[in-house]
Amino acid sequence: MLDQLHEMETKALAELAASQTEAALEQWHVAFLGRKGALTELLRGIGRLSAQERPAFGQEANRVKVALEQAYEQRAVAMRQAASQLQLAREQVDVTLPGRPVGPGHEHVSTRTLREIYDIFAAMGFQVVEAPEVETDINNFQLLNMPPHHPARDMWNTFHTTREGLLLRTHTSPGQIRVMRERCPEPIRVILPGKCYRYEQVTARHESMFYQVEGLAVGERLTMGDLKGTLISFSRQMFGPERKVRFRASYFPFTEPSAEVDIDCVLCGGKGCRVCKNSGWLEILGCGMVHPNVLRNGGYDPAHYTGFAFGMGPERIAMLKYGIDDIRYFFANDLRFLQQFV
Ligand code: DAH
Repeated sequence: MLDQLHEMETKALAELAASQTEAALEQWHVAFLGRKGALTELLRGIGRLSAQERPAFGQEANRVKVALEQAYEQRAVAMRQAASQLQLAREQVDVTLPGRPVGPGHEHVSTRTLREIYDIFAAMGFQVVEAPEVETDINNFQLLNMPPHHPARDMWNTFHTTREGLLLRTHTSPGQIRVMRERCPEPIRVILPGKCYRYEQVTARHESMFYQVEGLAVGERLTMGDLKGTLISFSRQMFGPERKVRFRASYFPFTEPSAEVDIDCVLCGGKGCRVCKNSGWLEILGCGMVHPNVLRNGGYDPAHYTGFAFGMGPERIAMLKYGIDDIRYFFANDLRFLQQFV
């Protein structure tokens, strides 16, 4: 029995030295020291020994058990150290390598387009004013001539907030009300740029967040002619002096009459192509003479004042101007896209 015990010890130590992985180590522990392991098996045979032999065998078996446990611990520690050494070596960083250069940033294509728009309107006397993105239903709809349940509200898929009557503005038009109420009875010439939000299925043409630039002029003798002159001038400065500009009758609840402005297609020059869907024209904005109700809501008496207004999407303008075919590029932060507009 003692011989068997010593044989087992020698074998165990040899196998321990040979085990290379944590899994092998665990298997070794089960095989030699586990509940059904070799040592337990040997101890079970103790009953076959004489009463004199038993204490000596018991003592020796204990020594072997302790020795094997210790050897196991040492091996485990050595293995862990080797593993972490290996990891350290693998993850070593050469701090003497030169860094990767970080290029200077530049204007985002949306910012650039916005600034071009500001410059054009600034030269015509329009001041840039900002208004909040979280708006009241009252400003976003009601004071723009759309009472609750007005069917025209369906033109704007709206994000409502958990606060009754507060929403994310669906367009920059509520800024008109704010400016009028602040400035009445002064004449007004402002543009209102900013982010708008709509509950849209996001596609190549629709984003749930996008910019708009609103325009508003209020005065004592403003006519549709002023509106047309302003927007024709804008269109030609933005898209080229040779552009044809067309006003097409349309409907918005806050203007009367209302129109949409088209330019002849920048790609095909009006012959018809994929971009203009063979119509030869590209729609760039909506506009109209401010509705008397809206003027009144802003504090101006429509018997003495008139106004014109317009609203455009700068992303759409940039898409037409630079031939960008997907609005999602604007806010995806892909440098391969953004770096094309340095
Ligand atoms: N707010 C409109 C929209 O989001 C755009 C618009 C049309 C603005 C006509 C105007 C306007 O100021 O007169 O679709």
